[in-house]
Amino acid sequence: MSRTATASLLPEVEAFLDREHGLIVGAGRPAASDGGLIDVHNPATGRRISRVAAGTAADVDAAVAAARGALPVWNGLAPAERANLLWRLGEEIERRAVELGQLDTLDNGKPTSESATLDVPLCASLFKYYAGWATKIEGETITPSGGGAFHVYTRREPVGVVGAIIPWNFPLLMVGYKLGPALAAGNTVVLKPAEQTPLSALRLVELALEIGFPPGVVNVVTGDGEGAGAPLSGHLDVDKITFTGENATGQKILEASKGNMKRLSLELGGKSPSLVFEDADLQAAIDGTFGAVYFNQGQCCIAGARVFVHRSVYEPFLAGLAEKVRGIRLGDGLDPRTTMGPLVSREQQERVSGMIAAGVGEGATAVVGGGTVQLPGLADGYFVQPTLFTDVERDMTIMRREIFGPVGMVGAFDTEEEAVTLANDTQFGLASGIWTRDVKRTHRVAAQIKAGVVWSNTYGMFDVAVPYGGFKASGYGKELGREALDPYLQTKTVWIDLS
Ligand code: NAI
Ligand code: MG
Repeated sequence: MSRTATASLLPEVEAFLDREHGLIVGAGRPAASDGGLIDVHNPATGRRISRVAAGTAADVDAAVAAARGALPVWNGLAPAERANLLWRLGEEIERRAVELGQLDTLDNGKPTSESATLDVPLCASLFKYYAGWATKIEGETITPSGGGAFHVYTRREPVGVVGAIIPWNFPLLMVGYKLGPALAAGNTVVLKPAEQTPLSALRLVELALEIGFPPGVVNVVTGDGEGAGAPLSGHLDVDKITFTGENATGQKILEASKGNMKRLSLELGGKSPSLVFEDADLQAAIDGTFGAVYFNQGQCCIAGARVFVHRSVYEPFLAGLAEKVRGIRLGDGLDPRTTMGPLVSREQQERVSGMIAAGVGEGATAVVGGGTVQLPGLADGYFVQPTLFTDVERDMTIMRREIFGPVGMVGAFDTEEEAVTLANDTQFGLASGIWTRDVKRTHRVAAQIKAGVVWSNTYGMFDVAVPYGGFKASGYGKELGREALDPYLQTKTVWIDLS
């Protein structure tokens, strides 16, 4: 009972938490080279639930060497054997949905109604989907335009050792996003989970080793950004970094990567718009926008938190959305009545609370929330009051910066042209939502929005087969779908003179 406020945990979760967690390098579980440990907290209670190794540059060296050594082993397997291992890992994740869901909820705070039923199955489906691709990676034969007696063909080769640096908002799911395509394409991986949420990644890689992944194919270096992330992104024997996280960190990784011209996939932040037109199904727009803003405690890179509504439906829309925000039940994610958990960390709670205070201070109106919150029995949890603002001007902090918390803002527009201008008025370009019954308008607006994803009459839909990724400052390198394999492969051209 000490680790949680309400529910009891599965025995395998308790057993996992009771162990002290080292790194995973090859088949071994070494402590960090300098013996340092990081405390892992339950965000609902603020209490320590586990400790993991604080990896260093020396640990990154060891993990990269293990990954390098495993490359010929992994590529020595038949594609069908790699496919089989990926598929079986997907099945293992499905079988352990409750266990992995509890781990993510304890670590991240999100309700188990989301971790166990959305994050875990989507993660499993990633491994199964990319298992299918492992046997379908093919080059082509090319006829040179100048003719001649040449046989020219391409080979699609893995880039090599991939460093995967992931954030804390979808701890288990992000592992699948990176590992699925990287491994299917024949790469080996050094995984650096977020220091706030390392547990499910460690468990997942333990399971991979148990079901027969060769040692060294996936290694885990836990630790923070400075200690473990930076040495990984600067490592001269790492061929590619795949990263999801903050824009400023993406820029540091870009800098660090130049020593050996590492390949990069950068999935950075967003400030996505939701546009509600006068002909929209208003209740559907309210429900969908609510999810767009508040899902995952608002800690989503795709959060559609800048909501612009046609003036003729602004009042009823705002009233409907505000009512839903007031109906949020904050609490421990392990409590089935909870619809919104705490934020991931004290730091994030302070950052988002500061952002809310800046909104109030700069003159925005908090229609719902706007203050701080203390829950009975969970006084030390990292909770933030769900907040909805109006009267937000274009230069206010909350309109410009990624908030990454349960904070939305609603404004009005008069014309479609104005709506598009408002939507594009950001350095980011990750996602967007359009609510309208007019199909012509959907296509017209979708073509004008400068963002990698447009959802119409829905929001936040993801599928393993459908590519996803940003424009502009939101980064580059698609994830999901067939396109996500490309950044993990490099094309080699072979010319043979047959004359
Ligand atoms: P972050 O981008 O600093 O952390 C993400 C990952 O990068 C973690 O594994 C971290 O250890 C690692 N990292 C940090 N500094 C690094 C460095 N110099 N070199 C290599 N790796 C490094 O994000 P953070 O600080 O946890 O959150 C701050 C803000 O970033 C959030 O408030 C949110 O606005 C944004 N964010 C966006 C995410 C997204 O999905 N787009 C995910 C997480 C955060
Ligand atoms: Mg950071």
